[in-house]
Amino acid sequence: MSRLESHLADFSIRGLDLIDPEVLTQAARALMTTERENIAAFDEKRLTEIIDLYVRTGIQVHSPGYMGRQFSGVVPLAGVIDFVSSVVNQPSSFYEAGQLPSVAERLMAEELNRFIGWEAESFAMVTTSGGSLANLTALLAARNKMFPDFWSGGSPVSDGQPRPAVAVGADVHYSISRAAGILGIGEAQIVRLPLNEAQQIAIDQVGPTLEEAERRGLKVFCLVASAGTTSVGAFDPLDELGDLAREKGIWLHVDGAHGASLLVSDRLRGKLKGIEKADSLAWDAHKMMFVPAPCTLLFYRNGQDSLGAFQQRASYVFDEEPDRYTELDSGGVNFECTKRPMIMPLWTLWSVYGRALFAEKIEYLCDLTEEIHRIVLDEPDFESVHQPEANIMCFRYRPADIRDEDVHRVQVAIRNRIKIQGNFFISKVNIDGVAALRVVMMNHEITAEHFRMLLGEIRRIGRDLLDGGK
Ligand SMILES: Cc1ncc(COP(=O)(O)O)c(C=O)c1O
Repeated sequence: MSRLESHLADFSIRGLDLIDPEVLTQAARALMTTERENIAAFDEKRLTEIIDLYVRTGIQVHSPGYMGRQFSGVVPLAGVIDFVSSVVNQPSSFYEAGQLPSVAERLMAEELNRFIGWEAESFAMVTTSGGSLANLTALLAARNKMFPDFWSGGSPVSDGQPRPAVAVGADVHYSISRAAGILGIGEAQIVRLPLNEAQQIAIDQVGPTLEEAERRGLKVFCLVASAGTTSVGAFDPLDELGDLAREKGIWLHVDGAHGASLLVSDRLRGKLKGIEKADSLAWDAHKMMFVPAPCTLLFYRNGQDSLGAFQQRASYVFDEEPDRYTELDSGGVNFECTKRPMIMPLWTLWSVYGRALFAEKIEYLCDLTEEIHRIVLDEPDFESVHQPEANIMCFRYRPADIRDEDVHRVQVAIRNRIKIQGNFFISKVNIDGVAALRVVMMNHEITAEHFRMLLGEIRRIGRDLLDGGK
């Protein structure tokens, strides 16, 4: 505890202490007891060294130097409850194994659904170990609804019937293509919807693209929209997509892994205008709700739909005679059998501090991102790639003397050098085939001043690269 206390009190600017895996393996091996026959005597020094090594080798998510990924600088109290979960070990797929977690899921679902706006009596929520699994689960439910025989009979392809397909924004997270593979849909049946300038699904092209897919013998059962794309944080036009999906009888799944949290802010909720028209929504609390990973909530507008994702019988867990104690069991509607009581840190923070804690942090991070975007626009040797919509921003180092053919290579090299230098941690993404530097504002210790320091470091590295350093 005292080690963690000093870790959290350290606000110095740092990214990642990247260590050669062989060197780290050696260091870790040296911490393993050589005692083979008997239980080794407890060695406090060894334990302290393991904790220190663990803390030191992580991306420093609480430091102002951390600007690179979407996992949170966790609110420390959430970590305390996660620690309690690890000690009491109450897996949460079945009420009898995790009573409070099961009730907390129900309460948290009610709280968050107030911002989605679905009928309190008919919506459902399931927690899943990550957004990827939530996306897979929602696609399964959607597929089984339109193709009820697929689960037992397999793909209808051989019957010469229309082939099941999903339509997605061209910039959708890779977990969706992966889900299509797992579902037996096949990559070739993923219909990619073109994007507009703001990297959102271009609404005027959705209808024609779906009609073209139909002519090719595809039956689109699910349209996946993003509320905060991974690369630039773009929000698809949910309101219009909701109308279109309903008109065509297609399930609308919203991947809000990153951006659904904006719903809790009165000021930012409008980014998800029309969310109530969706059939399902994936929401990662381990991103912008500042709790430890994983903690994902998968919402269904119609709770009955959640029952369609899986169809197993197992008398050792699924009770044949349900009673009031099995009502909250979620084992039948989530993939996991043993599942972490992941709701506990979120529900506890919500219970102790209330909604405003989340709203204020989210608003701060989105405002900060707007501010750093203005900074980039003012710097003649930097290029803005998009107008940020949330807390993700992509940009390039692009001084007047850089040749077009070098732009990609230089961004990649800058990102790698920054990672190795370890003062800051940022990421990189290709936009229209050319690399861009990507920052994600995930902890409220970061200020615009820290971003200016990052730009200084990028400029120094970039100049060195262009002047022949490499
Ligand atoms: C838009 C989006 N969807 C899904 C995911 C996958 O979520 P997870 O990492 O929780 O599996 C991510 C992760 O970054 C994401 O940004």
